[in-house]
Amino acid sequence: MVKEVPISELRPGMYVVDTGLSWMDRPFVYSTEGRIFGPDDVRRIQGEGYLSAFVREGDERGRSGPNLSRRMAGKELAPLPKEQEAEARVRERLRKVPIRKEIETARQVHSQLVEYTRGVMKDARLGKPVDYESSKPLAGALVDSVMRNEDALLALKYLKSFDEYTYNHSINVAVVATVFAKSLGYSEDRLRELCQAAVLHDLGKALVPDEILNKPGRLTPAEFAVVRDHPVNGFELLHGARGPSQDVLRGALEHHEKFNGGGYPDGLAGDEIGEFGRIIAVADVYDALTSERVYKRGMTPSNALRIIYGMRESDFHPGYVERFIRCLGIYPVGTVVRLTTGETGVVVQGAPPTPLLPTVRVVLDRNRVRTRPHDLDLAALAEQMGLDAPRIDSAIESYEDDPLMPRIDSREYLG
Ligand SMILES: [Fe+2]
Repeated sequence: MVKEVPISELRPGMYVVDTGLSWMDRPFVYSTEGRIFGPDDVRRIQGEGYLSAFVREGDERGRSGPNLSRRMAGKELAPLPKEQEAEARVRERLRKVPIRKEIETARQVHSQLVEYTRGVMKDARLGKPVDYESSKPLAGALVDSVMRNEDALLALKYLKSFDEYTYNHSINVAVVATVFAKSLGYSEDRLRELCQAAVLHDLGKALVPDEILNKPGRLTPAEFAVVRDHPVNGFELLHGARGPSQDVLRGALEHHEKFNGGGYPDGLAGDEIGEFGRIIAVADVYDALTSERVYKRGMTPSNALRIIYGMRESDFHPGYVERFIRCLGIYPVGTVVRLTTGETGVVVQGAPPTPLLPTVRVVLDRNRVRTRPHDLDLAALAEQMGLDAPRIDSAIESYEDDPLMPRIDSREYLG
């Protein structure tokens, strides 16, 4: 039997179970499966801001109990030894170039890719062959930036106001897809290939007239039929170019297929859909929801993640959505949050090992008055101060409940 206990009742010897349940509905459930070894573990988990955990009932023997050694010898994964875990965290931090240093490179990479996409789409319209080879070094530069600090490219979306949606959307999808695939353990070579596929996934839109592409209202059935051709058109345009692999071709062809078979163009289902298509599909929907268009405001990242969570298992493969949310964090870069201190700020850097403890740039004091922006690394503070450290209380989704609160534009505070 598994029961939920408040973190305050977590005791050494208990075994935490990853129920796989609703990471989105229950973000404060600690779900790293394994035994709680000592009081340090309990303190660390409390310090990271989790509120409860699911544990196995009647399985609370001490670490030296025979039951535990038998289990440890068996198929359960041993938790990472503490020193190794701490070392991995330090390595992750050291490897990261600060966002301020990376942002200029990220801007250049982004705009070079936008120029490239504009060029190939123009060529496609004119019936010229697609220059696939040139996407290789550009995708390489994007992957390098993601490896140094993925938050720089992710934050760009909030820094720039993009007017030409189609080109920028392709690059934003490539950024999100690359960050996601990195978290899935892709090698750098494979990441570059995925990135090329993501940059070119909507190439077929070159053949869709602008008035349909940019139509603010609902498309007529005839217009939608034209849009539905873009994966096949993209596939064919790429097929006629020198260089794209099978996986890249399938990425373009399959990025609107759905897990339940309800997508297009072929109504593929489940395992019939290749991995590039699955990854690009999640990134595509995420970017579309969070993008500002002439006729709509962009959704906050946490709202978009909630909607995507609701589409798991209908649109997306089991496990992909949960992993996607884990990778971007409950509070992705750009999210406006209220802290337990009453202060308000913008998430400026994610913290993959501790998704509830990103770095927050505080911009309003506890009285909702603008203050000199300053950064709080919530993970570092939790390490220093334990339970007294400030944490995120909630993400601010709308200003309706609090009309007096000053509006915060994330763009002002990133970079
Ligand atoms: Fe598309």
